[in-house]
Amino acid sequence: MTYAPFQSDQRIPSIWGAWKASASIRSRLPDVTRRIPTVPTLGAVGGPGSHARQLAQSLFAGAAYRYDQAAWWLSYGQYPRWHRFLVSRVPGDARLVLDVATGTAAVATRLARRGHRVVGLDLTEPMLAEAARRLARAGVAGRVHLVRASAEALPFPDGRFDAVTFTFLLRYVADPAAVVRELGRVVRAGGVMASLEFALPDPPWRWFWWLHTRLVLPAGGRLISDGWHRVGRFLGPSIEAFCRAHPFPEVRAWWEEAGFVDVRRRTLSFGAAEVVWGRKR
Ligand SMILES: C[S@@+](CC[C@H](N)C(=O)[O-])C[C@H]1O[C@@H](n2cnc3c(N)ncnc32)[C@H](O)[C@@H]1O
Repeated sequence: MTYAPFQSDQRIPSIWGAWKASASIRSRLPDVTRRIPTVPTLGAVGGPGSHARQLAQSLFAGAAYRYDQAAWWLSYGQYPRWHRFLVSRVPGDARLVLDVATGTAAVATRLARRGHRVVGLDLTEPMLAEAARRLARAGVAGRVHLVRASAEALPFPDGRFDAVTFTFLLRYVADPAAVVRELGRVVRAGGVMASLEFALPDPPWRWFWWLHTRLVLPAGGRLISDGWHRVGRFLGPSIEAFCRAHPFPEVRAWWEEAGFVDVRRRTLSFGAAEVVWGRKR
């Protein structure tokens, strides 16, 4: 089944109070299109599935500014916890790690601090610009090489990396099974792949989650910026549609077809997020 990663006609209830409160904050935000020209583009970022990639880029270009603060608040501080668990799945002796959908390099920074050498890959230039700033601030820019490329066509030879991590990626691609295969292709035999994605909590948490994604996220996003308002409206329906279309047994089958064994899953924060990891045969 083909999963539609974005529907532009998704609607949410309007929250008048939040909108009024946001007006003064929004007027003080700087231009979010600030870019640094130093992140090279490798390989093709067009081609099959490019519609999904354009939508991902337009969504994240608008959310790059203050991405980390917004993600922290809107996840009630859970975001770093999820990243920490993901990074803990990477063996300490992995020398070279590819972090796909690196965004603002939160995971890449953690990996670099653990002593790994990292390639951080993403499609969206403003996210990569924020990533470069974060790496410089953290003093790990020398250990992380940023690349603009597409997860669908990685510009690396087979088995190049000791480990691959990816975060919140599969909802943004047209063919998630093919992307898992492509990511698995660049992991060496015996290496590890680990992913972090949003998940759908079971009842009774499902009802809190629904209120959070349908009310808090859109209203909170609106307080931050137009770009975050769009992300806030997009997330709940997108997560729900993906999780219903692709339950975990199907995701595990993608990993196994990509050559991974011992594929495991841990849900976090009452099932709102999940980390999946496995070892390449
Ligand atoms: C929700 S952000 C995650 C950022 C970061 N990893 C984190 O955990 O905060 C998803 C990222 O996936 C990137 N992305 C979406 N589709 C992609 C693709 N096909 N190839 C590479 N990156 C992609 C977006 O540009 C965005 O930066």
